[in-house]
Amino acid sequence: MTLPDRSELSRREYLRTLVAVGGATALSACLSESNAVDIPAGTDDPSTLPARQYAWNDTLLRDDDGNVKPPEHHVLLALSLVDEPTDGSRTQLEDALETLERAYEWSNDGLLFTIGYTPAYFERFDDALPESVDLPEPTALTSSEDPAVDEFDAVVHLASDHSQVVLEAEEGLFGNHDELNGVAVETDLTGVFERLEDQRRTGFVGAGLPAEHTDVSDVPDSVPEDAPFFMGFRSGFERNQATEDRVTIEEGPFAGGTTQHIESMDLQLRTWFEQDSHPMRVRKLFSPEHADEDLVGDVGEKLTTTNGLTDERIDATEADARRGVVGHAQKAARARVDGEPPLLRRDFNTVDGDSPGFHFLALQHGIDDFIRVREAMTGADLDVMHANNGILSYLFVNRRGNYLLPPRSLRALPRANPQ
Ligand code: HEM
Repeated sequence: MTLPDRSELSRREYLRTLVAVGGATALSACLSESNAVDIPAGTDDPSTLPARQYAWNDTLLRDDDGNVKPPEHHVLLALSLVDEPTDGSRTQLEDALETLERAYEWSNDGLLFTIGYTPAYFERFDDALPESVDLPEPTALTSSEDPAVDEFDAVVHLASDHSQVVLEAEEGLFGNHDELNGVAVETDLTGVFERLEDQRRTGFVGAGLPAEHTDVSDVPDSVPEDAPFFMGFRSGFERNQATEDRVTIEEGPFAGGTTQHIESMDLQLRTWFEQDSHPMRVRKLFSPEHADEDLVGDVGEKLTTTNGLTDERIDATEADARRGVVGHAQKAARARVDGEPPLLRRDFNTVDGDSPGFHFLALQHGIDDFIRVREAMTGADLDVMHANNGILSYLFVNRRGNYLLPPRSLRALPRANPQ
């Protein structure tokens, strides 16, 4: 990808595009654009950071209703091991990750990150993963998809409100930037991991960001100005997300870890906005009753800390389907356990490949939880036309990956059974 033409984009859009391009040239363009931004420094003692890599919620900002506001910019770095893990490469990786923690505050204003490992990574060890970890190989989960699967070793998820931070952290990790926010990079990942450029994924989330992408073909002008997600509505309400406690593995050597699923998909946004009316979009995304009772508002502003799916609305899923249209969230909510959602969704929009898409990143106790929720969301059991089955007919899944996010203490090239 070449650098975007600065004169044709707003500053915010230019910075977002630089994240998608990546690399040293994009970073230097980004730094000259972001001179005035002050990034808070990291910690002198990384061992004081949370034991769970995904302990982000306590530090993230909240919106006016008190829901967690995810960082705006995201990069997923697909990594392949250069050689088999050794004590030396473990130390090198740990030192490189601690450099990030010393450089940037653990916050959306600084940098939040995780490293996760695929089932393919763990296959190299004689021992199997302990029973307390549910991490199968990723497979197709619906009859209409034929996804590629993440078979490389690891993924680093970098997230920040500042595009310069995610770009700079990535370049620092790969030996292309010798100072990060005033901290010298003495150790990087060169020789431990290779970056798989063709698998690099990027994205953004936040009110107003999707509407800034109407220059991308297949992103229609009708994306609402204030929507944080491409499909036009708020998502991730406090009461419909699993807590970090709930997704945590409590037993065995990986206690304090969790599992992550990444489902990448293309979105048919033009049809979504141009074929359907706003009430129909509400029906398909939330539930028919949400539209009939005008519960949502333009982009979800009427909903506060919950998506409004009561037990009655969830129980009405089959009947709504038979009557003609069923909601995406309504179907997915059938997989709640004792009223609690099993997934902690940290998904984001993308224009990777210059077309609109979505990286659905979810944390859960085990991958079987994800599969169960995805089956409920797919709703193959429901008696309804495909076009009216939630948002299924607008999503085209192209990749799936399963990961273990070990606790921080085991994040550097863990053995399959550290005990
Ligand atoms: C383009 C893709 C997607 C969009 C735009 C989207 C959007 C939404 C929205 C607006 C809600 C209601 C608000 C909220 O509770 O946060 C929701 C709920 C939900 N979605 Fe999605 N979603 C997408 C894909 C997925 C996928 C792939 C899954 C996988 C299982 C999923 C699972 C859920 C769940 C579990 C809920 C909450 C259900 C509950 O309340 O218990 N979504 N989604």
